[in-house]
Amino acid sequence: MEAVVIPGDWSVDQILDDLDQHGFSIIDHAYPINYLKNVVTECQNHLNDFRNAAIQNGVVSTIRSDHILWLNPKLSISHQHIQTLQSLSQILNREFYLGIQEVEAHFACYNPGDFYALHRDNPQDKNGRVISTVFYLHEQWQENWGGQLRLQDKNNQWHIIEPKSNRIALFQSDLLHEVLVTQHQRLSITAWLRTERTLI
Ligand code: OGA
Ligand code: MN
Repeated sequence: MEAVVIPGDWSVDQILDDLDQHGFSIIDHAYPINYLKNVVTECQNHLNDFRNAAIQNGVVSTIRSDHILWLNPKLSISHQHIQTLQSLSQILNREFYLGIQEVEAHFACYNPGDFYALHRDNPQDKNGRVISTVFYLHEQWQENWGGQLRLQDKNNQWHIIEPKSNRIALFQSDLLHEVLVTQHQRLSITAWLRTERTLI
């Protein structure tokens, strides 16, 4: 993994402490506003390429109704976020011996009425996902728009996390969580920090 600098105003000690104590952490004002705008534009420019996330290998599920687009290095602005997460992974490995080797990520678009029902990102410890991260795009968000991330922390406490613009939520991939129905279009990059690729 390449060495990319983590934004100077991220409080890495706080992130490590939160993950250790609660199994999740929130980074607000994650990036300079110009970078956020450029990611939003890149995301919006590709909305036509998004596909229904509930259909995998032709099988339709009713657990989620969002649309996604997997990231690749050609989506070069968003790719910088992945590189930042790779750098963060190195710190997490050093601190917690997590053995993270790669980052996989997709854009997600939840249109009004969309949701993602209660689930874990790594239900049976089979897919290598260790830490889940969600970077909320859209340039503004209001509290009455729904679309919150509802998450049970490692001490079984529930939290409601607003998908605020320029916020990153990080949490252990084995924690139970859901996306409540949104009333406005909700754009994000979901990324998983994972050990080596394994077949599910
Ligand atoms: C997911 C997920 C949470 C969010 O994509 O698996 O749970 O807040 N996303 O978008
Ligand atoms: Mn999830």
